Amino acid sequence: MKDELKKAREYEREAQKRIPEGEKPLFHVTPPIGWMNDPNGFSFYQGKIHLFYQYHPYTRDWGPMHWGHSVSEDMISWEMMPAAMAPDQEYDRMGCFSGSAIEKDGKHVLVYTGVSKQNMPDGTTEERQNQCIAYGDGITYNKYEHNPVITGDMLPEGCNRIDFRDPKVWKKGDTYYLVVGNKNKDQKGQVVLFSSDDLENWKFETVLAENTTGKIGTMWECPDFFELDDSYFLICSPQNMKAEKYKFHNGHNSVYFSGKYNENTHEFQKEEAKLLDYGLDFYAPQTTELPDGRRVLIAWMKSWDANMIPDDQIWQGMMTLPRELRYRNGILLQSPVAELKNYRKNECNIENQKISGRVQLEGIKGRILDLTVEIKAGEFDCFGIELAHNKEYTTTYTYNRKQGIMEVDRTYCGVTKDVVCQRTWKLPEEGENLKLRFIMDRQSIELFINEGEQVVTTAICTPQEADEIEFFCDGIATINVEKYDIIL
Ligand code: FRU
Repeated sequence: MKDELKKAREYEREAQKRIPEGEKPLFHVTPPIGWMNDPNGFSFYQGKIHLFYQYHPYTRDWGPMHWGHSVSEDMISWEMMPAAMAPDQEYDRMGCFSGSAIEKDGKHVLVYTGVSKQNMPDGTTEERQNQCIAYGDGITYNKYEHNPVITGDMLPEGCNRIDFRDPKVWKKGDTYYLVVGNKNKDQKGQVVLFSSDDLENWKFETVLAENTTGKIGTMWECPDFFELDDSYFLICSPQNMKAEKYKFHNGHNSVYFSGKYNENTHEFQKEEAKLLDYGLDFYAPQTTELPDGRRVLIAWMKSWDANMIPDDQIWQGMMTLPRELRYRNGILLQSPVAELKNYRKNECNIENQKISGRVQLEGIKGRILDLTVEIKAGEFDCFGIELAHNKEYTTTYTYNRKQGIMEVDRTYCGVTKDVVCQRTWKLPEEGENLKLRFIMDRQSIELFINEGEQVVTTAICTPQEADEIEFFCDGIATINVEKYDIIL
């Protein structure tokens, strides 16, 4: 093993002991220590689900990228594995950037971006991003001796060679395919497609999709491409996007395009970009297909621009709960993986409860929860729920019925920095019962609306003793409430 990786493994083993018991989330993936961003290499291999991620063990801020590693049998209970890769080669000296994984001939193959500096003829240096592979057995990964396997010279004229990253690989028939994020000559985002028979020798196929309207940000990071329920989907995370009315508020957003794909010509006719998540903390999602056919998505539960964590916390970054995807009537539905139900305990059910003014309900409290609130009939304009709440702290969800909008506000969740705390979004359909399913862990709230038509993901930093739940209504609302504690 190279020294860099050995050093990282030794460091993480010791340093994680300094994290206080009960500080980390219970069922959301976190790094052993230090910094985490994008999910990488989300894949099923030898009976387990593997999740790698962008990782800098030595500080709680971004630094030269390693790949951290966790495994699970059910995507709820995760086991931390030793770091899988460190930036220890000439071609990845500046970082092992995001990528994906696939099984080939019994081996687990990681496909990632190696970032390096190249000496230019005029004596200056320029960054280069190239695609590399590593072969492994689920614990130890050896980088391929002829890396990189895809370089910028293989791109057509005009394609950017510095912003060329985040390969997502899959297999169709006997052929491997891979999409990579890239920029065109006008500095607009695009996704390029390559093919290979063996993962080592690649051929450029086409520009699969590009930012033709100019409105979908600059660089398209972390692309993913897959078929689901008779449609094709391209997911990517465009940087620097402008907000439009109630959408795309995060600057760096994560979007999907549904569309038709011709497997022979590799033409993808995409529909308009739609937002994947309306919350404050969601980026760089990646999907995988499980052996049972489910398409599952996981994302980094943080925004690049918001630093939420308390000053004394020595790790930073979490993953979302994995979500099952379905496509129905033109809507991409996302729901918590079914396995979460296996950990639901202490059921508390209340039906036809009238809410007027401010109330707390017997048995409805806690911080690690699966909580569904269904708003049925009522005479009101405004209904809301305060979570992770006590006299000092709260995160508020407000439903404004007349306007058909909802808002999350974490101003009082404990933040001590000037970070964005509020988002407003337009609800899917007016007039219907609204079903709100909140999945809460120690430092997050993920809201699934109406069986996953919309998802709103938000990190919080509220002390665990703030465990009350309060309902409020300016008229009278009738609700059903179902609460379970999540216990591992
Ligand atoms: C997205 C991203 C990727 C890159 C990685 C570096 O969040 O910028 O494009 O590979 O993070 O850590």
